Amino acid sequence: MNALIELRDLAVHFPVHRGLMSGTSGAIKAVDGVTLEIARGETLGLVGESGCGKSTLGRAVVGLTQPTGGTILIDNKPMTRDRRVQMIFQDPSASLNPRMTVGAAIAEPVRLNGLRHGRAAVVARMHELLDLVGLPQSATHRYPHEFSGGQRQRVGIARALACEPDVIVCDEAVSALDVSIQAQIVALLEDLQGRLGLTYLFIAHDLGALKHISHRVAVMYLGKIVEVAPKAELFANPRHAYTRALLSAIPVPDPMVERQRKRIILSGDIPSPANPTSGCRFHTRCPVAIDRCRSDEPDWQEMSPGHHTACWRANELVELMPDALSLSTSDARR
Ligand SMILES: Nc1ncnc2c1ncn2[C@@H]1O[C@H](COP(=O)(O)OP(=O)(O)OP(=O)(O)O)[C@@H](O)[C@H]1O
Ligand SMILES: [Mg+2]
Repeated sequence: MNALIELRDLAVHFPVHRGLMSGTSGAIKAVDGVTLEIARGETLGLVGESGCGKSTLGRAVVGLTQPTGGTILIDNKPMTRDRRVQMIFQDPSASLNPRMTVGAAIAEPVRLNGLRHGRAAVVARMHELLDLVGLPQSATHRYPHEFSGGQRQRVGIARALACEPDVIVCDEAVSALDVSIQAQIVALLEDLQGRLGLTYLFIAHDLGALKHISHRVAVMYLGKIVEVAPKAELFANPRHAYTRALLSAIPVPDPMVERQRKRIILSGDIPSPANPTSGCRFHTRCPVAIDRCRSDEPDWQEMSPGHHTACWRANELVELMPDALSLSTSDARR
């Protein structure tokens, strides 16, 4: 793969202070040895439950969080805080100044990065950016609170695009929006990718949300990637028990199939990221864990080209956990 972004054994550990006298006595291993590549023009979906480290990984890629181990290469060069890597957030209001007009908010990064010179050129670029994200020119003199959530997210996207990035980390960028608005924003991001050749790291906590936009999907559990595969392959043939459980939670459009399926309910404790368990980190909740899963960390195996998983039971899952597979594969192949 011709990788634009390469993560090599990336770690972000946050120190834990347990009382004044004891000093630093541990670490939250938010990201704990992640190796991943993202090709130019590709969308990598990153999925996992709340607290598994998705945002921390995304913030490290953007340079907002300093890794404690491993490396990040962008275009074969060590990552530095750089306008070419931007982030869009779940709540665009948090990144928009309520007292700044939309026009000023979009013009600001153009000016600050010296991408256009002179007022007329900056204003022309601002109008171009409004147009790119499907906002009317009349938005220029209005304030963020006058817009709907979906429109505010368009402003957030325009502000990111103003920096002329190559890579955008979309951290739950559509999760807070109504389903119909989500689809519009996803369509906009896809359209922009086609026009501008953008590379996306698209973060979501459920597989349904990233099914359409992703080319490949990486599944994260407690600081580690447990499975990565091309999208259609991951949905049709998941080879990690955790991925199968996540897939079983997505409703199937066919009511006949849906009635016959069983959701895989995960029970058991989630280990703390400060103190991950031995063996496979998922074993405390895994419905098909065996002794080996409790003692040995699974090897990273390639199941088919580009499809990697870290599950000792990868070869038996089809029989062991059949329900996840009743997900319509034609849907996943779109
Ligand atoms: N600045 C920080 N200091 C200490 N711990 C942190 C910090 N940021 C994140 N964490 C911890 O790191 C772990 C991963 O957090 P992170 O926000 O990356 O998860 P996430 O997958 O994005 O979750 P969510 O789906 O809820 O957004 C959590 O245990 C969190 O409490
Ligand atoms: Mg997050």
